[in-house]
Amino acid sequence: MRLSVNKSACAGHALCNAVAEELFPLDDDGYFALEPREVAAADEQRARDGVASCPESALTLETE
Ligand code: F3S
Repeated sequence: MRLSVNKSACAGHALCNAVAEELFPLDDDGYFALEPREVAAADEQRARDGVASCPESALTLETE
C-alpha cells in the first residue's frame, strides 16, 4: 500500500498527524511533509484512519 499526499490540497489541519504521528509527519509549518511511501502491513489500519481524517481529502492510499 502506498501513501501519498496532494500537497496543494493540504491545508495543515494536522488531523492525520493526530491519528499517527510517525505515519503522517508534519513540516515546521504544520503541513504534511512526507513524500510518497510504502505503508507496512501492520500500519495499514492506522494509515486508513489517518487518510479518512483529512477534511481536505489530501491523502491517498493506493493498493498495487
Ligand atoms: Fe494536511 Fe489533511 Fe493532514 S490538511 S496536515 S493532510 S489532515
